[in-house]
Amino acid sequence: MSRPNIPALDSFPETGTPEHAKLGGYDFYRSIGSPQRIVAPMVDQSELAWRVLSRRYGSDLVYTPMINAKVYVQKNKGSSRVREGYFNKAFAEEGAQELVLGTKKDTDRPLIVQFCANNPDMLLEAAQSVQDKCDAVDLNLGCPQQIAKRGNFGAFLMDDWHLIFTLINTLHRKLSVPVTVKFRVFDSLEKTLAYAKMIERAGAQLVTVHGRTRDMKGHNTHVANWEAIRAVKEALRIPVFANGNILYPQDWRDALAFTKCDGVMSAEGNLYNPTLFHTEIVQDLASLAHRGEEKPGFDALHIVHVANEYLDIVANLKTPTAGSALKGHMFKITRPALAIHADLRSVLGKAHSNEIAHGEDRVQEYRAFVVELTRRLEEDKLKAESYIAPADASRYYMKPLHVLDPHDTSKRPAFIPHWYLQPYFRPPLNPPKVTDIGLEDSEMRTHHGRTLKAQGNDEFAKANYAKAISFFLDAIAQLPPRPETNLEEKELGADDTADEHSTATHTPPEVMETILTEAVSLDGHLITSEIVELRVKLFANLAASHLKLEHYEETIKAATEAKERLGGWNHLSSALEDYKRLEKLDKEGRVPKASRAELYAALRRVPPLLENVSEKEKKEMMGNLKTLGNSFLGYFGLSTDNFQMQEQEGGGYSLNFVR
Ligand SMILES: Cc1cc2nc3c(=O)[nH]c(=O)nc-3n(C[C@H](O)[C@H](O)[C@H](O)COP(=O)(O)O)c2cc1C
Repeated sequence: MSRPNIPALDSFPETGTPEHAKLGGYDFYRSIGSPQRIVAPMVDQSELAWRVLSRRYGSDLVYTPMINAKVYVQKNKGSSRVREGYFNKAFAEEGAQELVLGTKKDTDRPLIVQFCANNPDMLLEAAQSVQDKCDAVDLNLGCPQQIAKRGNFGAFLMDDWHLIFTLINTLHRKLSVPVTVKFRVFDSLEKTLAYAKMIERAGAQLVTVHGRTRDMKGHNTHVANWEAIRAVKEALRIPVFANGNILYPQDWRDALAFTKCDGVMSAEGNLYNPTLFHTEIVQDLASLAHRGEEKPGFDALHIVHVANEYLDIVANLKTPTAGSALKGHMFKITRPALAIHADLRSVLGKAHSNEIAHGEDRVQEYRAFVVELTRRLEEDKLKAESYIAPADASRYYMKPLHVLDPHDTSKRPAFIPHWYLQPYFRPPLNPPKVTDIGLEDSEMRTHHGRTLKAQGNDEFAKANYAKAISFFLDAIAQLPPRPETNLEEKELGADDTADEHSTATHTPPEVMETILTEAVSLDGHLITSEIVELRVKLFANLAASHLKLEHYEETIKAATEAKERLGGWNHLSSALEDYKRLEKLDKEGRVPKASRAELYAALRRVPPLLENVSEKEKKEMMGNLKTLGNSFLGYFGLSTDNFQMQEQEGGGYSLNFVR
């Protein structure tokens, strides 16, 4: 039965048998080495030289940039030059099994060539002309740009499933290599799954799912939906690659684990760090910010090292690298360093490559830029200030949902010194005001978190404790990350426009009270108490579920997260109560040996913390008041006199608002 806007699967023809014998699905996937770490098709950026570099650092499979089939097959004056520009055959390097570049042996396989098209005959003709130079041909159904809208291709075919079926099916039946497809998701999961099944039925032998919708682009790129990707993977029989939000090395590991996909594809993450997939890079990236000896094992992260290696490849290839591609890469690789040495931006901007020259002459001007950059960075490494994180480090980072350990910042550090490759976070069009991630994103995550918590509670009530645990863990992963840096005064509204200011001064006192108490946490960070409360409840529920299953070790861990780490007198004292309850259980012989060490360590650790905390809370609150006095309060026409410190029954202090 077909739903509105969702064509029924059986309304499409049968897949049909290919004219050529060729491998399909998992046989094909295994024949190209079961790739897990894939570099995305990128217009003007996944060119031959970049593919070679990316493979040297761990990529198992790379796609060519998208080629417009219509332009590729057109026959007029200059068209052969255009074709060679898209995919060079003259030098027999693109798609070559073996490449000798200086002293290194490289390859341009496995390789998938991507086309965009809306005409099956043109697509077939274009694909046939490269089929002996690649392992598969991919159809682009994801391009959301204006050019795709005008040309009616990419993501703008998402409304015409019958045309899509014909495009894929034509290649499936007539091409000598398999056809693969890269597509975006719909808002509706049901529609996404029906779409994916239609694509599989058309003959796609492998698909890449970009977990964003057609509208999620530019400043609206937002976080990719790994859940939708996981659902597609579950629904299809062919191999599936996950695409979206792979910025740190830990992300592709987490994406593989969460989506259960066969591989993970990266575009922007790879452009800013082509060694992203390098398995030998030490995982604790946060340690890079510690001043001291040069860290061994991080060569592959040095901007200069990688920039020089890329230039070597460009110089050694016979195939020319487009000047625009070369410049684009050099700007992206060196971006963190150019943020500090802004004067070098124009030096790089003016550098030219000589496409018809060979060897080093081809990249001479770029090399001169790198020499100067190297000199500056060597000096910077000796300066203490180079190791201090700027206030807005990682401010726009949108952590993928469902990362395995959302609180571990060592693998996704807010700050990496500027001589290392690192991800770039594009600022949203309207920078967030209160939290250090987008407000909308924060709201969306909190909403998801609440929904999952409710599902977990239902399962708990039905005594399905294992299921409840999985819902609570998912909910915790959804919540916005804890703030890591103090926000600048600007964030508190001091720089806001006069209009906004006049609205704020008319805010009724009870609303102000809510805003203030919600926005300021005990440790001086700006957060919303709703998120904190939700996180506490989730960990508490998690602990309760583990306790029911007699997972004592996990119970202690979750209880610790819920109470101890959140700090404050209330949390610590109730954490201590929990530990005492467990101690009682232990006396009854009910706590396994493996968990006892942790329990008794906690029983020793918490009481002194509790003693110190009352005094500390008082001091911190006074500190917060001072900050408020300087910024927030003045903004609302209030002063520190509006607040009173009150001792709580049994210990600790609270901050009261007085009108
Ligand atoms: C510079 C650039 C060029 C791109 N060109 C293509 C392309 O030719 N074909 C395509 O399917 N997607 C293209 N994309 C989209 C990426 O392949 C990828 O789907 C998208 O960027 C999401 O992945 P990411 O989160 O790892 O960046 C391009 C992306 C970038 C940043």
